[in-house]
Amino acid sequence: MADTQKSATLTIGDDSYDLPIHSPTAGPDVLDIRKLYGQAGVFTYDPGFTSTASCDSTITYIDGGQGVLLHRGYPIDQLAEKSHYLEVCYLLLYGVLPTAAQLEEFETTITLHTMLHEQMQNFFRGFRRDAHPMAIMVGVVGAMSAFYHDSTDISDEHQREIASHRLIAKMPTIAAWAYKYSIGQPFVYPRNDLDYASNFLRMCFAVPAEDYEVNPILSRAMDRIFTLHADHEQNASTSTVRLASSSGANPFACIAAGIACLWGPAHGGANQACLEMLKEIGSVDRIPEFIARAKDKDDPFRLMGFGHRVYKNFDPRATVMKQSADEVLELLGVENNPVLQVAKELEKQALEDPYFAEKKLFPNVDFYSGIILEAMGFPTSMFTPIFALSRTVGWISQWKEMIADPQNKIGRPRQLYLGETSRDYVDIEHR
Ligand code: SDX
Repeated sequence: MADTQKSATLTIGDDSYDLPIHSPTAGPDVLDIRKLYGQAGVFTYDPGFTSTASCDSTITYIDGGQGVLLHRGYPIDQLAEKSHYLEVCYLLLYGVLPTAAQLEEFETTITLHTMLHEQMQNFFRGFRRDAHPMAIMVGVVGAMSAFYHDSTDISDEHQREIASHRLIAKMPTIAAWAYKYSIGQPFVYPRNDLDYASNFLRMCFAVPAEDYEVNPILSRAMDRIFTLHADHEQNASTSTVRLASSSGANPFACIAAGIACLWGPAHGGANQACLEMLKEIGSVDRIPEFIARAKDKDDPFRLMGFGHRVYKNFDPRATVMKQSADEVLELLGVENNPVLQVAKELEKQALEDPYFAEKKLFPNVDFYSGIILEAMGFPTSMFTPIFALSRTVGWISQWKEMIADPQNKIGRPRQLYLGETSRDYVDIEHR
C-alpha cells in the first residue's frame, strides 16, 4: 500500500472523522474511506465510479490530462515502436522486460498452447452461422472451464500460470475460428513456426486450397494493434473481470465476463460502431450533419471513436494507430479509401469544433483501429473480438495481481436506496 502521511477530516454535524490519504507513485492522492461506514454510518455515492479507486495496482498508469499511458512504467509509444505483443504480455504479467532467454521460453510456451481441444469445435457448430463472433467468444471461453480442469483452481499458483498461458495462446484460435465459422470456411489450425500475429492472420485468411503467405507489414500492424489494446487500468471490462474473480470464480468464467462487458458500443464495441458510423456518414459533405447530431442533447447519437472517461487529451494509442493506418492503407493501395477520407475530415472538423474542444473529446483508440482492420479484410463484426483477444493479457494480469493481493475480498458495492420503506402485504381482494 502507498505511504500514508496525510489525512482528511470529514465533519458531519457535530462529529468529525479522520480519513487517511494515500499518496501514489503517480496520479492523484486517494482518500481511504474503508472505515467510513463503520465510523460515521454513511456511504459514499459515485455512480460510474468516476472518482473512485477500486484497488491499488502496479500494472498500468494513465494520465488522462497529459495523454500518457504507461505499462509497468514504459510509455505505450515506445512499446509500440520497439517491442512486440508477446514481450508486452511478459511485461504486463511479470512486471519486467524479459531477457532474451526468458522471452524465448515464454514465446515457446505460448506457441505450444495455441491449439484448442478438438471437441470444442462442437461449440462453434452449435451457433447459427450469422452469430456475432463475440457471442461465440463468450460461449467458448466460458466453456474452457469444462475442458481445462487442471487450471481452474485459483488457489494454486501453478494452475493460475497455466490458465494465463492457455488464455493468451488460445484467444487468437478462438477468434479466428469464430470468423471462419461465420463465413462457412474450414477451421485453419495454428502453426508453431509462425509468430503470434502471423499465426492469427493465417488462421483467419488461409484456405486449404492454396498456400498463404503472411505479409510482414500486415503482421507488424496486427501485432501493434494487439499491443495498443493490451491493458488500460480499471476500465469497465477489467473491473468486470476483477469483480467476477473476487467471488473465487475460475479464470475462464471471469474472462468470459470481461468479454461480455467489452462487447458494448460504449467500450470495446466502439471500433465496430465507429466504422459503421463512418460508412453511414458516407461522404465528407455529410460530416456537419452528424457533428450537429452529436452536439444535440436531444439526440442520443454520439461520435463513435471520440471521447473517453479518462483521456481529456489525445489517446496516445490513437496517435500510434493513426501512423499504422497510413502505413497499411498505403501498402494496400487504399490510401484513397473513402472511409479513411471521411475519418480524416471528421477528425479535423471535430477537433476544430468548440463543442468537442470544450468537452475535451478527442479520437480514442477505436477511431483508427477499425479502419486498419477493415483495410486488412476483416468484417466489422471481428473488430471487437480482436480487441478482446488483445485485452486478454490485461485482464489476466489484473486478475493475477488481485488474487495475490492480501487485501483481496469479494466486491460488494452498497447503494442509495430510494424505494418504498417497509409496508404490509395487501390481499388481492383489497387492491
Ligand atoms: C474504450 O475506460 C477505458 O479505458 C476504455 C478503453 C479501454 O482501452 O479499455 O479506452 C476502450 O472503451 C474507449 C471508448 C470507446 N467508446 C466510444 O468511442 C463511444 C463514444 N464515446 C462516448 O460514448 C463516451 O465518450 C464514453 C463512453 C467513452 C465516455 O463517456 P463519459 O465518461 O460520459 O464522457 P464524458 O463524461 O467525458 O462526457 C462529457 C460530455 C458529456 O456531455 P454533458 O453531459 O457534459 O453535456 O461529452 C459528451 C457527454 O454526453 N460526450 C460526447 C461524446 N462522448 C462524450 N458527445 C458526443 N460524442 C461523443 N463521443
